[in-house]
Amino acid sequence: MRLIIQKDYDGMSKWAAEYVIDKINAFNPTKDKPFVLGLATGSSPEGFYREVVKAYKAGRISFKNVVTFNMDEYVGLPVEHPESYHSFMYRNLFDHVDCPKENIHILNGLAEDLDAECANYEKQIQSYGGIHLFLGGVGPDGHIAFNEPGTSFESLTHKQALTKDTLIANSRFFDYDINKVPKFALSVGVKTVMSAQEVLIVANGHNKARALREAVEGAVSHMYTITCLQFHPKGIIVCDEAAADELTVKTYKYFKEMEGID
Ligand code: GLP
Repeated sequence: MRLIIQKDYDGMSKWAAEYVIDKINAFNPTKDKPFVLGLATGSSPEGFYREVVKAYKAGRISFKNVVTFNMDEYVGLPVEHPESYHSFMYRNLFDHVDCPKENIHILNGLAEDLDAECANYEKQIQSYGGIHLFLGGVGPDGHIAFNEPGTSFESLTHKQALTKDTLIANSRFFDYDINKVPKFALSVGVKTVMSAQEVLIVANGHNKARALREAVEGAVSHMYTITCLQFHPKGIIVCDEAAADELTVKTYKYFKEMEGID
């Protein structure tokens, strides 16, 4: 695993954006050979999207031949609700770049048959030969996508009940009222994320320090699904200084030195 510790949120966002832009450009995607990108929502990747949109406007990246799959969506929240992950993605990325609508995949939390929706999502990912790079965040309790503590590392896309921790954390988007937060979500599974050729996680702020400590120094455990990354041959976490607060000095220095960051 690589751990890139940047000074602040801006540095983290820029690093992640440049990494993804370089990957897509080096792949040289075409209509027949698109780059398949996994994407996430949340406040952590907002800066990443800002940087990517900036690069698009500067002509440094195109999404014409990029196919996207989002990690998750709330169950039962209308697509046009400002806090749906559909709205988030259009607001932060798709309204500003040239990604064709037919290339965009986001789980439908209003589907009549949610199990069929999840199975079909996996099939769609497979139809493109899998995901090249999955970008994600991490919850304060160490969850990846919506794979809450206790989710099997073998899980594929599924319906997930949200934990109290997550309901409280996400209530900030719903007038700080946990009763307004949907209780269920559809989410790619741990195995779906792990099947990507590369996984890039962004983590910022002190409230992610515990999750980051478990991810990097902790034992692999389904209680912190982010720890799956320790098994991934190409897992990268890019964080800010605040998220590194709970690492030991030794770990902190080691990764800084490995990445040549002062
Ligand atoms: C939600 C999302 C996750 C995200 C997490 C952290 O639970 N399902 O994908 O990583 O929140 O969000 P934030 O970046 O806002 O802290």
